[in-house]
Amino acid sequence: MSTTFQLDTATSRAHPTPAPMKRLSVPTIRQRKADGHTAEPIVMLTAYTARQAQLLDAHCDLLLVGDSLGQVIYGLPSSVPVTLDMMAAHGAAVVRGSYHAVVIVDMPFGSYEASPAQAFGAAARLLKDTGCAGVKLEGGAAMAETVAFLTARGIPVMGHVGLTPQAVNVLGGYGARGRSQAEADKILADARALADAGAFAIVAEGVVEPLAIAITQAVPCPVIGIGGSAQCDGQVLVTEDMLGMFERVPRFVKRYAEVATTIEEAAARYAQEVRARAFPGVEQTYQPK
Ligand code: KIV
Repeated sequence: MSTTFQLDTATSRAHPTPAPMKRLSVPTIRQRKADGHTAEPIVMLTAYTARQAQLLDAHCDLLLVGDSLGQVIYGLPSSVPVTLDMMAAHGAAVVRGSYHAVVIVDMPFGSYEASPAQAFGAAARLLKDTGCAGVKLEGGAAMAETVAFLTARGIPVMGHVGLTPQAVNVLGGYGARGRSQAEADKILADARALADAGAFAIVAEGVVEPLAIAITQAVPCPVIGIGGSAQCDGQVLVTEDMLGMFERVPRFVKRYAEVATTIEEAAARYAQEVRARAFPGVEQTYQPK
């Protein structure tokens, strides 16, 4: 049965029928790997808008308001220009549109790297302004002190290692990471450092499969893979990629729909009907004299 929504204009919240499941929490996600093994893989997708969140919520354990919204929503060349204001606005929309999944909001480039105190200010704003349950930040051992600082002060942190898109200017592109032994060793050490610092989960993006498996086995918290391995504790994709919104997607993305084609075909039919004056109007009671 599909879900319908009634909008409460006083709070801007849409109330779904049937009534939603209870919202999951960060500890319930962390507990899914309590004994070092995740029996039921964790499902995460990105979401940027309230309506998208409504449609994805019941199917996901986590909704990530990723800074990939820079490219996907704003047409920016990378996630580097994304601001805290953008993340706060989209994070609030996704929290309003969801009832079940844990909502995590990405900390944008420049909002957290300078010091743990800078990170706390930005992360606290995201939690206050959006109602999200936690934040995600990129980087490994260099961010461990910050992860510990935030976690000790009530802010759950999801780490992100391997291909870290905010570092595209250092990495030189979006290619797979961990091909050399030295790089694989560093990424594994990064994941261990984040887990030791208290990260409740870690995204391992664009790493070669043996490394994705090694990270999953090495750290006690859940590892969410993207382009890594089906053996990770969970998986994440950019929703628009798996829906077929773009012609070009990373090689590892499986497309579950062809939404771009559906939109183009609908727009073409609409345009054709408007131009043919065949576009249906509201039933008229007004009669011109
Ligand atoms: O910004 C994002 O969407 C992400 C996911 C790809 C993990 O970080």
